[in-house]
Amino acid sequence: MRQIKPVVSERLPELLRRMPKAELHMHIEGSLEPELMFALAARNGLTVPYPDVAALRRAYVFNNLQEFLDVYHAGTLVLRTEQDFYDMCWAYLVRAAADHVLHTEIFFDTQTHTSHGLSADVVINGLHRACADAQEQLGISASLILCFLRHLSEHEAFEALEQALPYRDKLVGIGLASSELGHPPEKFAKVFARARALDFRLVAHAGEEGPPAYIWSALDVLKVERIDHGVQALRDPALVTRLAFERIPLTVCPLSNLKLKVFPTLAQHNLGRMLQAGLVATVNSDDPAYFGGYINENYTQTFAALGLTAQHAYQLAHNSFAASFIDASAKQAFQDRLVEVFETFE
Ligand code: ADE
Ligand code: ZN
Repeated sequence: MRQIKPVVSERLPELLRRMPKAELHMHIEGSLEPELMFALAARNGLTVPYPDVAALRRAYVFNNLQEFLDVYHAGTLVLRTEQDFYDMCWAYLVRAAADHVLHTEIFFDTQTHTSHGLSADVVINGLHRACADAQEQLGISASLILCFLRHLSEHEAFEALEQALPYRDKLVGIGLASSELGHPPEKFAKVFARARALDFRLVAHAGEEGPPAYIWSALDVLKVERIDHGVQALRDPALVTRLAFERIPLTVCPLSNLKLKVFPTLAQHNLGRMLQAGLVATVNSDDPAYFGGYINENYTQTFAALGLTAQHAYQLAHNSFAASFIDASAKQAFQDRLVEVFETFE
């Protein structure tokens, strides 16, 4: 890895904000800010069960993943039209571009919305149109990853996959999200095999709250290329050796881990130890509207809490491009822009 010149601690937050980066773990439904939630509810003749934005934000206190997922699911009820999905995705892309995100791979699911009576095309077309407009108007590159909900059955995941196939060209990959404990990756072995046969890139949440065994089976049974979260890997030295040797990327989300009490404080987060162990870790926001920060907040707060340096910043941003599903020439172009920012930063 390139040696980066030291940066004084007062200037580090500015470097973190300004450095080019990719975001690889962000659920678009988790970017729905309370203000937009109220606006969409009004547009669709619905009500939000809180008196105002401030009261809704005050409700964003969680003890674990499931408590969050229940609130997050309630928030998706305001999404009814293709334009709603467009507006939500556009708002995220404007925010990400301001954070110097050059490329983002956006998670979404269709099962939540089809269970509310919407069809998959409303979801996918709205999100895709926002991504296309953002490329043109904001210069940010964006692609879409369809996540299956793991608390539902494999049969239902197959249905979601079949419904998405007419829009195959608008999707880069398939992921696995929602309640982890009790729903191991191997529950989805057959549907991931089918997605692989269809040439989708594959990722899965594993080792967020769940044990290292779930990371092993995401790799060996689902054959995913990246692990989302993966912070529990450090409990298993043999797994750490494998992840480092095979250079399997981990899309880590520090503020999410803090809000969902995976770690009691950010100072106890294991991101620094992951890098020390040679893991290909990246920094991401997961559900920024709920967890108190977009990607730059994840970088700045985590660096402050852990005492990480400009060398770590370069490593993480470099990893984010290396771990993305863009082609080799685009990766190189983004990494060249990263080097330029580090070389010219004062
Ligand atoms: N869906 C949205 N955010 C999630 C998370 N952190 N883990 C699992 N599923 C999710
Ligand atoms: Zn996630």
